[in-house]
Amino acid sequence: MCGIAGYIGPGRAAPILLKALSRLEYRGYDSAGICTIFGGRVLTRKDVGKVAEINSRLRMDELPGNIGIAHTRWATHGAPSQVNAHPHTDCTGRIAVVHNGVIENFMALKKELVEAGHLFSSKTDTELIPHMVEEYLKRGSDLTEAFMRTLQRLEGSYALALLDAGSPDILLVARKESPLVIGIGPDFKMVASDITALLDLTRDVVFLQNGEAAFIRSDGVKILRVDTGAEIFREPTRLDITVEMAEKQGYPHYMLKEIYEQPESLKNALRIQEVYADLVAELLDRGRQIFLLGAGTSYNSCLAASYAFSSLARAATYPVIASEFISNYGASIGADTVILAVSQSGETADVLNALEYARLRACTILGITNTVGSTLTRISRAYILQNSGPEIGVAATKTFTSQVLVLSQLALRLAKLRGKIAQYEIDEIKSGLKKVPEMAGEVLDSVRLKMREVAEKLADKNTIFLLGRGPAYSVAAEGRLKIMELSYTPCIAYPAGESKHGPISVIQEGTPVIFIAPYDDNRRLNIGSMMEMKARGATIISIADRDDREIEEISDIFVGLPRVHPLLTPIIYVLPFQLLAYYMALVKGHDPDKPRNLAKSVTVL
Ligand code: G6P
Repeated sequence: MCGIAGYIGPGRAAPILLKALSRLEYRGYDSAGICTIFGGRVLTRKDVGKVAEINSRLRMDELPGNIGIAHTRWATHGAPSQVNAHPHTDCTGRIAVVHNGVIENFMALKKELVEAGHLFSSKTDTELIPHMVEEYLKRGSDLTEAFMRTLQRLEGSYALALLDAGSPDILLVARKESPLVIGIGPDFKMVASDITALLDLTRDVVFLQNGEAAFIRSDGVKILRVDTGAEIFREPTRLDITVEMAEKQGYPHYMLKEIYEQPESLKNALRIQEVYADLVAELLDRGRQIFLLGAGTSYNSCLAASYAFSSLARAATYPVIASEFISNYGASIGADTVILAVSQSGETADVLNALEYARLRACTILGITNTVGSTLTRISRAYILQNSGPEIGVAATKTFTSQVLVLSQLALRLAKLRGKIAQYEIDEIKSGLKKVPEMAGEVLDSVRLKMREVAEKLADKNTIFLLGRGPAYSVAAEGRLKIMELSYTPCIAYPAGESKHGPISVIQEGTPVIFIAPYDDNRRLNIGSMMEMKARGATIISIADRDDREIEEISDIFVGLPRVHPLLTPIIYVLPFQLLAYYMALVKGHDPDKPRNLAKSVTVL
């Protein structure tokens, strides 16, 4: 996730864009830049760091010119660095682009442009865009045609804005999947990734839709469909919303916003870079022992992944809590050990400490993280970015589901590499994975009210049990963490089969026991455990297959979800728990974005 903005009008563009960037920083903040056109040239200032820091060093806001584009970055392709910061330009320095999204076919397109003689200076996918526009201009297209032809070749997602020093009276923008809005002033126009960045200037906006490009002059906007070139006429909408409301996109808390971002963040998690994913799978394949290492929520995604690695790749992997690793496994590791570390921040001290120990013993270190440039990316032999964008809520939500989706894709690659499953199965699973983003959106909509009711019923309980088997146990563990973090209610999560070996003694009349009971091989056993608990007076709450009448009958409260492949259980079944925890915090009067005693990134041992 990144933030982009653009301005054209009578005012000086740079200070307006600087203000817009500070409003968009929640979308990314590892580097930023602004460029304008002045005196027939593109002038650029960009660097690594937060917007305000960069501006105090480089005075981006002092750039002259009445047209400009700007970017604040959350790196996906290429580490945060001055050269990878946006805007990016073509060989002549005449065309500049800012981009939010991921160009999936960038390797092939870049190769073609390099062969045609273009010189790239950054490691980003974005840079191919100005070069390709330059190429089409060289071949005789005018700017509009060069832009449209370039867009037609891009696969993946983008919201982008482009300037050409040769045409200082026009701003070109386009959108596919990543958001983009155009603010309409009487004598100026402004574009941005979201309305927060332009509400100060105007409340009249046009929302660009997927597959549309817009050609913006200070006195008018022309919108074309990228595929057909057909013109689209759309009246501006008048917004009645404050900047504060807009920052959370209408959601009262970042946590709820991030929960509802999952259809988008999951789509981004499906866009992992092939070469790195293959490399990670190859390195995993070489390991005699494979450990999956993480803390907090990231450990729970390791738990979920051990099912995926076993069932798909027939590989035994050991999920380990990072702080326990050295004592329990340290003496057993060596050059044939592979450690796949999972960390949203890439900075958790317990994780880094275990990895440093492992590095000194010649283990292969691999990483999955949301933060390019983090320590984890520097110490990993290979790493994969989960592409979730910044997560502001302290309790991890969208980053958990994305981690699981990335790990599942790695398990699938390892399975292929080892020849453990047939191609048709791989294809089937892949197409199932592709449906996850949409399914997540449907589930969130369908269970929201129900989970608010459940939250009210559970808010005054002293203890809550969560039970599940196999992949559903990782949901119990993550559900426990969310409820505990946000509502401060002590929770006990157990593999359902183990619950008879102790926890059952705590059950009394009315003790709430939540079963994560999808329609999988464990269903019969789950029903058995439910009966055991019910016989001791427990209140049974089931999160189960929506067509499972038998479980519905046994349950006091029943929450139905669509039938899923067990690989997807951790992603789909965790969604009701995120909402439950959120609403429990509200019912109990706690701030869901800032739970007490917790930090987003724990950098102490
Ligand atoms: C803290 C956060 C958790 C997070 C854990 C691991 O405890 O409050 O939400 O899951 O750290 O963080 P990481 O950045 O390594 O995933």
